[in-house]
Amino acid sequence: MLGRIRAGVLEQGTVELLDRAGVASRLHAEGLVHAGFDLAFAGRRHRIDLHAMTGQAVTIYGQTEVTRDLMEAREAAGARTAYEALDVRLEDFDSGKPRVRFNSSQEVECDLIAGCDGFHGVCRASVPPAAIKLFEKNYAFGWLGVLADTPPVSDELIYVNHERGFALCSQRSRTRSRYYLQVPLSEQVDEWPDERFWAELRRRLPPEAANRLVIGPSIEKSIAPLRSFVAEPLRFGRLFLAGDAGHIVPPTGAKGLNLAASDVHYLAECLVSFYQSGNSLELENYSSRALARVWKAERFSWWMTKLLHRFPEEGDFGRRMQLAELEYIAGSPAAQRALAENYVGLPY
Ligand code: PHB
Repeated sequence: MLGRIRAGVLEQGTVELLDRAGVASRLHAEGLVHAGFDLAFAGRRHRIDLHAMTGQAVTIYGQTEVTRDLMEAREAAGARTAYEALDVRLEDFDSGKPRVRFNSSQEVECDLIAGCDGFHGVCRASVPPAAIKLFEKNYAFGWLGVLADTPPVSDELIYVNHERGFALCSQRSRTRSRYYLQVPLSEQVDEWPDERFWAELRRRLPPEAANRLVIGPSIEKSIAPLRSFVAEPLRFGRLFLAGDAGHIVPPTGAKGLNLAASDVHYLAECLVSFYQSGNSLELENYSSRALARVWKAERFSWWMTKLLHRFPEEGDFGRRMQLAELEYIAGSPAAQRALAENYVGLPY
C-alpha cells in the first residue's frame, strides 16, 4: 500500500481534518505550503495567486505519507487492522447487523460498514446493480508520471497547455520532483526511457523553465488513465461508500484525495450523531451531502482536464477556444478567482 505513488496537493479543509484526527504533526513539519501555482501556455507562465484570491493555500504532502501517518496512528492507538485481507465478503448491510467476512474464517459483526476500499474494491461491487447508478467518462489519454530526486524546476506547480500535449511540474519536497506528460493510452512505459521523457518535457515547458530543468534518473515511472466516475447513491442501508469506492476524478485538479477527505468529514458527522442520538436519521443524509460536493469537484476536474489537454478530435476551433479561455483567465481576476476557489477546495 505504501509502494504506490499518488498525488500530493492537500486542501486546507483536508489539513484541518487530519489536524482534528491528531495525525498532522509530520504534515506540518514536512509539508510545503503553496500560495499559488502557474498556468503556462503559448510559451509564457501566468501565476494564479491562490492566497490573494481566496485567503487560502494548499499543502504539498504526498498521499503515501498521509497513509503512513494514518497507519502509524492506528498502530499507536492499539487498533486492530487486517491488511491484505483475502476473500472479503459483505453481508446483511441492509439489516441492523451487518457483517464482514474475510480470510475464510474471520468475521466482524458491526453497526455500520465504511466502504473505503477504492475503485476496484469489494464494497461497491457488493451492491445489487439495480440499486446503484453509475456515471462515467473515460478520456482517450493517460498521464505518464516520473518521480526523480532532482530539485523541482519551480517553487510552485506549473500546469502546461502545449500543442504537443499537457505537462505538469509537481514536487514532493525541495529535492524530489514529480513530473507528468499527457500520452496516448496506447503508449507503454518501456517506450519512455528517461532521456525521451526529459526531452519531451523540455519541449512542452516555457523556454525559461525548460532552461532551468534539472534532470536525473527516474525512481518511479508509470502511466495512469484518466477517468471521471460517480456512483449514486453512496449509502446502501448500513454500507457507506467513501473516496474512490464511490467516485473518481481525473488528476488535473488534484481533487482525488481531498474528495475522499470530505466524504470522511461528512461520514464522521453522521457517525457521531448516530452514536449520540441512537437513531439513524443523520445516516440517511450522508449520500446527498457528500454527493453535492463530489459533483462540484467532478465538474472542476473535468473542466481543468478539458482546458489543459490536447483533444485532436476537437479540431482547430476547439484549440482556439482553449487558448481564448486561457487568455481570458490570465487577464481576468474574476476568472482567476473562480479557478482559485475550486483549487483550494469548496467549503464543506
Ligand atoms: C502530484 O504531485 O502528483 C500532482 C499534483 C497536482 C495534480 C496532480 C498530481 O493536479
